[in-house]
Amino acid sequence: MSRVIDVPGSADFESCHDELNEFRRDVLAGLNKPQKQIQSKYFYDEHGSELFNQITRHPDYYLTQCEIEILNNCKNRLARLLGSHPFNLVELGPGEGIKTQLLINEFLHESLNFNYLPIDISKKYLYMIINDFREKQPRLKLTPLHADYFRGLEWLRKNSQNRNLILFLGSSIGNFDPVITLEFLHHLCNSLNPGDYVFLGFDLRKNVDVLMSAYDDIDGITRDFNLNLLKRINRELNADFNIEKFGHYATYNVYTGAMESYLISMEPQIVTIEALEKSFSFDSIEPIHVEYSHKYLPSQIDQLAQETGFVIVDKFTDSRNYFMDTLWQVKEQK
Ligand code: AVI
Repeated sequence: MSRVIDVPGSADFESCHDELNEFRRDVLAGLNKPQKQIQSKYFYDEHGSELFNQITRHPDYYLTQCEIEILNNCKNRLARLLGSHPFNLVELGPGEGIKTQLLINEFLHESLNFNYLPIDISKKYLYMIINDFREKQPRLKLTPLHADYFRGLEWLRKNSQNRNLILFLGSSIGNFDPVITLEFLHHLCNSLNPGDYVFLGFDLRKNVDVLMSAYDDIDGITRDFNLNLLKRINRELNADFNIEKFGHYATYNVYTGAMESYLISMEPQIVTIEALEKSFSFDSIEPIHVEYSHKYLPSQIDQLAQETGFVIVDKFTDSRNYFMDTLWQVKEQK
């Protein structure tokens, strides 16, 4: 039976106490900026993760449907590419793991010899994956790693000689700012062995109306997802944000190609955060920036591969050309 491996030294193996301290520090730093800001990683408390799962199933949020279409179309190609030797299927931040199941089912169907290693900082998701696969695919070799991504990859390097296929799905990379994206990909390349593969999801630039609906869906789930951040601050940092007095606003920056999400104060107000022993004043229509979701041109995706030590092996898009999964390989000579 699989069990979760705790990889020592991971950044968030901090106790709950330290996590709360970090949250406190980041909220203080973000709200003290002349242009207020809170990092999007704080969306994902228990309720926020549940709301995000609902977003991914909403018809306006086309990204998930597109990637499912792509995975269905390329799973056989991936099986043929990797199937001749034992390999590791490694997933960074698996979440609910629905999309990966498509690949796993295909690989098992083809009787490939592989081990699935989801890496996540949330133990909850890892246990969900264990329970899910125990029922659905008891044959699957599963090694969940409770770690931040790079500690998990370091553990893998020490513990397996097999070729790796790293999955980073769902346009998660789009939430990084451009400098961090380059750093992340460099670091990813340096954490792997020559010949290893990465399979990355990128959302493509497209009609702005389509983007706007995806980040402001008709049923208001994305609005609730964004406002939940203020509820989290109220609960965990003992604050008095009046959620009724804030709105969600999404906009597309045509120059940077990023969807930008803001929480907007609807009137002048003062909010007190007890855990910071501080009050913050908001003007009418003052924004708090909460998320970037970068959209890419295919040429930018190629450039990222070239600049960070990968060779492009293949690219897959959906029938509407909305989304691209790209398969890269770590250069033989780094
Ligand atoms: C997790 N990430 C890829 C999502 C995105 O599309 O940027 C988060 C999200 N924000 C609003 N809707 C979905």
